[in-house]
This record gives sequence, C-alpha cells and structure tokens, in this order.
Amino acid sequence: MYILVLNGPNLNLTGIREPEIYGSTTLEDINSALEAAFEGRVALKFDQSNCEGTLIDRIHEAGLDSDCAGIVLNAGAYTHYSYAIADAIASVKAPVVEVHLSNPSAREEFRHRSVIAPVCRGSISGFGANSYRLAIEALLL
Ligand code: DQA
Repeated sequence: MYILVLNGPNLNLTGIREPEIYGSTTLEDINSALEAAFEGRVALKFDQSNCEGTLIDRIHEAGLDSDCAGIVLNAGAYTHYSYAIADAIASVKAPVVEVHLSNPSAREEFRHRSVIAPVCRGSISGFGANSYRLAIEALLL
C-alpha cells in the first residue's frame, strides 16, 4: 500500500515563493522529511503539477488503484475554484485529505472557500510542512 502526496500549482516553488507565508523549506526537502518520517510504516509517492488536467489524471490513477491507501492533496489555488478537481476527488474511492501550508481562512477572502473540502475526507491547514505529516497520520488511523 502507498499514499500519494500530490501538490498543485506553484507548490514547486515552496521555499522560494513568499517564505514569510509558506516557509523556507523546499518541496523536495519536505518530501524527503516525510519519506524519512514514515519509513517502515507506509510507502509514499510524490507528484507535483502546475496543470489542472494533470492533477485530475493523477487523482484518477491513484484514486482508482487498489494499492493506494489515500491521497494527500495540496491543490494550491485550485482549491478555491476547481470544480473539475472536486469532481475528480468525488469520482474515486481512495480517501483524499486536503492540506495547506498556510491557514487560508486567516488570509484573503478568496481563499476562505474550498470547493474541494466537501468531497475530501478532511482538511488540515496552517501547520506548514507538518500539515502533510498530520494528513498522512490521519490516513493511517
Ligand atoms: C496553499 C494556500 C492556497 O490559497 C494558495 O493558493 C497556495 C498554497 C497553502 O498551501 O497554503 O498556492 O494551498
């Protein structure tokens, strides 16, 4: 069994982009730390795309794979308006946990709404890189 950690648009620039909001750790370093933290407990796969369609393809592939125990998804700004990603999540059987590095509810108004939250198993926001760790723990409960 494995868990897919899937990151959406602009998350490839984590560590460089607005470090006062998203921290100064790169996505590569976040992923390596997750791999080390969960070694021996669950296999992790990592992916990132800036494209909505590619994210949807990944959700379909992993979400319909009987070996996938769940998807940890940071959909970036798509969180706030992608009904296509929401539909993809609703279409697969694997549970999806929504994560955010920052706390979108404490930021601009357009970030307050998540169109994917209603179809996710749950949401974890505001704990920086630890949001991913907490989401994986939640999938292992
Ligand atoms: C984010 C929050 C989103 O509002 C934003 O568009 C991102 C990153 C986060 O991890 O805090 O790209 O998903």
